Amino acid sequence: MAEYENNAVIRAILTRRTVREYTDEPLSSAQLQTLLNCAMFAPSGRNSQPCVVRVLTDKTLLDRLNTDFKNKVGWDTPAYTRWDKNPVYQNAPALFFIYAPTDARMEAGLMAENIAIGAKGLGLDSVIIGSVGALLEAPEGDEWKKILKVPEPYRFLISVAVGHGAEDPAPKPRKPEEFFVIEK
Ligand SMILES: Cc1cc2nc3c(=O)[nH]c(=O)nc-3n(C[C@H](O)[C@H](O)[C@H](O)COP(=O)(O)O)c2cc1C
Repeated sequence: MAEYENNAVIRAILTRRTVREYTDEPLSSAQLQTLLNCAMFAPSGRNSQPCVVRVLTDKTLLDRLNTDFKNKVGWDTPAYTRWDKNPVYQNAPALFFIYAPTDARMEAGLMAENIAIGAKGLGLDSVIIGSVGALLEAPEGDEWKKILKVPEPYRFLISVAVGHGAEDPAPKPRKPEEFFVIEK
């Protein structure tokens, strides 16, 4: 494995970590557009391209999303990691939302990972956020489809927060015994 460790793609994949502390530095429009392209070029079954992606950078709207989450989902439930100190978008300056008209979770997951790895490649960090679905998948979250300019039949699938990381977490434990080559 060591022989590939300087490969930029492999390095981005192996050094990506979920980061939940960010500086205030915004993403440039080139960074935002590049990450949208990374999402767009994710593969999809029969090239069906079921997903649409929106990215929100407006702090007022991000905070409104958090307040809605708080008021409509319930703040007393620890619904996501660091719920006691961070907003649901973990204070990142950009939040990508992936929606589809069908239950295209496979495609959405591939897009989310493309954004996360692309971000790492640009020297940024990310956190995939599913918990915001408790608001966006519920009728109470319907107005967010208007805000995000998402057509009515579409459903929220996953989101990815991206920014300049302000922490350097250790890798989470993995289960290497579950990953092996069948020799014969
Ligand atoms: C589908 C999915 C949903 C997730 N939802 C959240 C979330 O709502 N909030 C959060 O802080 N982290 C969330 N995470 C991040 C995971 O907790 C994290 O990926 C996991 O602990 C492994 O850590 P790593 O990404 O550093 O390898 C989510 C990850 C995935 C793949």
